[in-house]
Amino acid sequence: MPTDDRTPWLHLLPDHPLHFDDRFLWGVASSAFQAEGGAVPNDWVAAARDGRVPANPGNGFWERAEEDFGLVTSLGFRHYRLSVEWSRVEPAPGRFDAAALDRYRAICDAAHAAGLTPWVNLFHFTHPLWFAERGGFLDRNNHGAFLRYVEHVGRALAPHARHFHVQNESLAYVFGAYLLGVNPPFIASRDAALAMTRHVLALHADGYGILKSIDPDLTVATIEVYLDLRPEDPADAGQCAAVNHLDAWYHGALLEALASGWVRLAGRAPEEIPHLKGALDLYGFNYYSAIRVGPNGVGSFAERADAPVDVMGRHLFPGGMESGLLRVAAALPGVPILVTENGCPTMDETFRIRYIAAHLAALERAQRQGVDVRGYFHWTAVDNYEWQQGFSQARFGLIGFDPSTGARELKASATWMRRVIAAGRLAPADIP
Ligand code: BGC
Repeated sequence: MPTDDRTPWLHLLPDHPLHFDDRFLWGVASSAFQAEGGAVPNDWVAAARDGRVPANPGNGFWERAEEDFGLVTSLGFRHYRLSVEWSRVEPAPGRFDAAALDRYRAICDAAHAAGLTPWVNLFHFTHPLWFAERGGFLDRNNHGAFLRYVEHVGRALAPHARHFHVQNESLAYVFGAYLLGVNPPFIASRDAALAMTRHVLALHADGYGILKSIDPDLTVATIEVYLDLRPEDPADAGQCAAVNHLDAWYHGALLEALASGWVRLAGRAPEEIPHLKGALDLYGFNYYSAIRVGPNGVGSFAERADAPVDVMGRHLFPGGMESGLLRVAAALPGVPILVTENGCPTMDETFRIRYIAAHLAALERAQRQGVDVRGYFHWTAVDNYEWQQGFSQARFGLIGFDPSTGARELKASATWMRRVIAAGRLAPADIP
């Protein structure tokens, strides 16, 4: 779709000025492995060696974090979500690498020095190889090792960071790695996915408790991606068994577990994990697009035939963000929500700007309906490794980099965001 054709965007873009007050949290989000890359001893590097996923040279963040923080601050962002690569910190069982921890401490300190609040996530899809080889989260006997790492890193970083996440998108992790089997450890099993669902929820609750016991004043937030599930045939709305089934497992189980402590999964006896109830200070809400489910499998949902589509084949549907925010707010009354990721893979800056504007409009609609959305973290700052896509045209960054020199360059979307954040206002006329 040529970007000069604005028609498909018209109904998606804001039709009135959006206002964001001084309390609104503007941030960017990233993950350790996607940004740092390198020959770390983790399961994705091993899978790349086996040719099952692309190799990841990284974007240089490990060395250039200070420079990136300077750029991000110059755009007006005040929050930076990052993660810790477990395999750097604990390359062998029980052997914690002091130099790696020092670097993460320095990264948190540098964020503060630049004027950014770091939000530190402890698991973003990668496991140390030794942990993966033992069977990862699927084997309950391994949970203690993960929680020991959470405690060790929590204690080391808590004086340097005040905002934590135990895991990123635990259910999307289960979906990709244990149900579809497309990500390490490449298991496609309904039983494994159900067992894993229980485990990641329990690990969240345990990790929350550990971090709070280190310091009750730490903020500990969940992060889950909202999958707006839609039937292939719109006439089936509400009655499509495949959609209802998937949704009951994914959002249904998750939201009920966080609200009540009860984990209810199809075909399994309900289990109460009492400390899951209310184990969140904030709900981290990620959103990208809606998912079509039907006889032809799972794909991207398009509301209209002319819906703009990104380079990963995902159609724009900001309405899913609005309805997802409303749903989470209704399920977890009193829990503030933070959009912890939203962004799009594209080489086209007009597309990226419009994508952001369309989703900020959806966010604002949810706010006007009473949802307590505290901020918006853009995925991502600097172009990074997009899992199955590797380093390709699937570029999510506001900032590009030259792979031969590592030199950073602000994209048009970055300077556009700088204007929006500075003004606290986004008017229709500001959108190309
Ligand atoms: C994940 C990121 C990923 C992004 C874009 C999110 O679901 O947390 O790791 O890069 O989606 O696909």
